[in-house]
Amino acid sequence: MLSIDFSGVDALIPDNTLQDVLLRAASAHNLLATGTGPGSEWLGWRTMLDSPNDALLERIDRLAIEIREEADVLVCIGIGGSYLGADAVISALAPAFQAHGVEVIFAGHHLSGAYLSSLIRHLEGKSVYLNVISKSGTTLEPALAFRVLGAFIERSFDNPEERIVATTSRDSGALQHLAADRGYRQFVIPDDVGGRFSVLTPVGLLPIAVAGNDIRSLFYGAVGMHTTTGRAPHVDPHTLPDAAQYAARRIALYEMGFKTEILATMAPELTRFGAWWQQLFGESEGKNHKGLFPAVCTYTTDLHSLGQFVQDGDRSVVETFLTVENEADQLSIPASDHNLDGLDYLACRSFNDVNRAAFEGTLEAHGSGGTPVMHIELARRTAENLGALIYFFEHAVATGAYMLDVNPFDQPGVEAYKKGMLSRLKAG
Ligand code: PA5
Repeated sequence: MLSIDFSGVDALIPDNTLQDVLLRAASAHNLLATGTGPGSEWLGWRTMLDSPNDALLERIDRLAIEIREEADVLVCIGIGGSYLGADAVISALAPAFQAHGVEVIFAGHHLSGAYLSSLIRHLEGKSVYLNVISKSGTTLEPALAFRVLGAFIERSFDNPEERIVATTSRDSGALQHLAADRGYRQFVIPDDVGGRFSVLTPVGLLPIAVAGNDIRSLFYGAVGMHTTTGRAPHVDPHTLPDAAQYAARRIALYEMGFKTEILATMAPELTRFGAWWQQLFGESEGKNHKGLFPAVCTYTTDLHSLGQFVQDGDRSVVETFLTVENEADQLSIPASDHNLDGLDYLACRSFNDVNRAAFEGTLEAHGSGGTPVMHIELARRTAENLGALIYFFEHAVATGAYMLDVNPFDQPGVEAYKKGMLSRLKAG
């Protein structure tokens, strides 16, 4: 389902360094597995996989079916961890252009009035449901978007309370109070799950289900990876699960001076998954002036922009390729009656074949140019495999952060911009 290859970095990391980081990764993994590390009150993303709540999955599915029957569009309002996971999974599983089904649109993830105005015009005359997702209920971007879109629902439909679903904290926060007051249907974001770890709670699962995906397979894919990766403490660093091995190598390379990690996907369908990964790693690890800067590239698109830097620029970049072994669509390249582009030798080969050659050629070129390269491969782009990958990265980032002596579960740095913005807004 998911395989990983470290050979492109193990040649670069000195043996004693590798032994040292594996030992540290084992300790960090054990802190996580035993729930004794910093921020251990935020481990709900693990404990919910120990005892899956099938009744909740069922409830989410039932509402998703209703929305799919009644709505043309579901607008999901949220920012950061309150939308990136849903966006990641929906983009990874949906065809690029879809003629049928409910359109899932995200809003409240920036401050563009132009976007909201255009969205309102797009929604006019359509059957619209709203899922407003905010743990605090007071985050500026989604709160302002909800003012606009909530008012649109109120004036456009007779039964607004049936069209607005609030996903928020259990019994506190502004949105929870409003939802209770207006009679919106509600889903709970567990107190012990932080935003960027919340994709497998209703935060991500409702929009993912509305988009027509199998949330049980997604959830149980994560359960499977958690079972093989996360539960037991390990004493032997050589038998550490892959997620902890990945963490060990990232941190070794970081301490050797590689300060940026690119997640290089060979599939544009995984670009938004990269955006989720970027938040997970950036917000979890980037503290106390530490951490690898996470950046996402989509190849081959970005080989025509950033490829030059990765090949030949400052030697500070680690590259983790994310590929899919078997793509379901095997579109083949047509022959041409002119062959002016000289590409007839590719006729009848599949795009997947060509993309594979691009991946292998890039891995070899970047590796031999001195960029440490790792490779994570999904057997197929399925809900189950994505669930496994989600847990893999969550476990890896928590392990790596512990290795850097950082609390993976807070985000004190996010407050600074808010202070500056709010003091200006309040001053008028
Ligand atoms: O990871 C996080 O905690 C953040 O990205 C939050 O999810 C984001 O700031 C949105 O917060 P809220 O759900 O309270 O609106």
